[in-house]
Amino acid sequence: MLSSPSTSFILLCSLLAGAALIISPVTATDHIVGANKGWNPGINYTLWANNHTFYVGDFISFRYKKNMHNVFEVNETGYDKCTTEGAIGNWTSGKDFIPLKKPGRYYFICGSGGCSSGMKVTILVHPLSPPPSASVTATEHSSASTNSTKSAATRVLSGVVSGGLLVGFAFSVLLGCGWM
Ligand SMILES: *[C@@H]1O[C@H](CO)[C@@H](O)[C@H](O)[C@H]1NC(C)=O
Ligand SMILES: *[C@@H]1O[C@H](CO)[C@@H](O)[C@H](O)[C@H]1NC(C)=O
Ligand SMILES: *[C@@H]1O[C@H](CO)[C@@H](O)[C@H](O)[C@H]1NC(C)=O
Ligand SMILES: *[C@@H]1O[C@H](CO)[C@@H](O)[C@H](O)[C@H]1NC(C)=O
Ligand SMILES: *[C@@H]1O[C@H](CO)[C@@H](O)[C@H](O)[C@H]1NC(C)=O
Repeated sequence: MLSSPSTSFILLCSLLAGAALIISPVTATDHIVGANKGWNPGINYTLWANNHTFYVGDFISFRYKKNMHNVFEVNETGYDKCTTEGAIGNWTSGKDFIPLKKPGRYYFICGSGGCSSGMKVTILVHPLSPPPSASVTATEHSSASTNSTKSAATRVLSGVVSGGLLVGFAFSVLLGCGWM
């Protein structure tokens, strides 16, 4: 039965629909640079960045006094040397929301002199936000040994997959999913 092509198709279709349902509730996070201290001189933004995990779809936002400071996205050279030459982008509104659309490392500096007083931040954006259920369970088990953490993670994964299959099947039956 499992080998019949239409059954495989239904299974695949259900799995995709279920995965979409599981992934969709994940919300984008707005990471406010410097938290309540904002974008200002004399703050160690490396400490701030180390305290955050960035995923594709999140935002980084800069709050500062307009016309006094600004934000330039630069490459590693620009970050190290505090130069905006060949900048990738710039923002000046005083309340800038920047979408993190692609994974990878980003470099932001102030282009009005603040960079040499510490107004520079680099972040690493990760490809995918993990499903909330998996991350909660992983945290609960993180103090256990490698062995049991691994098996717990495997159980969560199979739970997510079979749950997704079930939910997805119901969901795709509702939508027709192309084969009815
Ligand atoms: C910021 O803090 C990090 C971690 O303690 C340290 O390595 C770095 O040198 C500090 N940066 C500045 C500019 O003080
Ligand atoms: C890191 O995050 C915790 C919890 O949100 C917060 O209390 C702490 O002040 C943060 N530290 C820095 C350096 O941002
Ligand atoms: C950064 O951009 C500048 C100007 O376009 C260029 O000269 C430099 O080689 C780049 N650095 C890196 C690390 O890509
Ligand atoms: C800032 O970005 C705009 C495009 O958004 C560009 O036209 C302008 O040249 C940039 N300014 C600097 C100083 O790089
Ligand atoms: C994992 O568990 C097996 C037995 O279930 C044990 O033999 C092995 O030493 C364990 N490995 C680690 C890294 O704890």
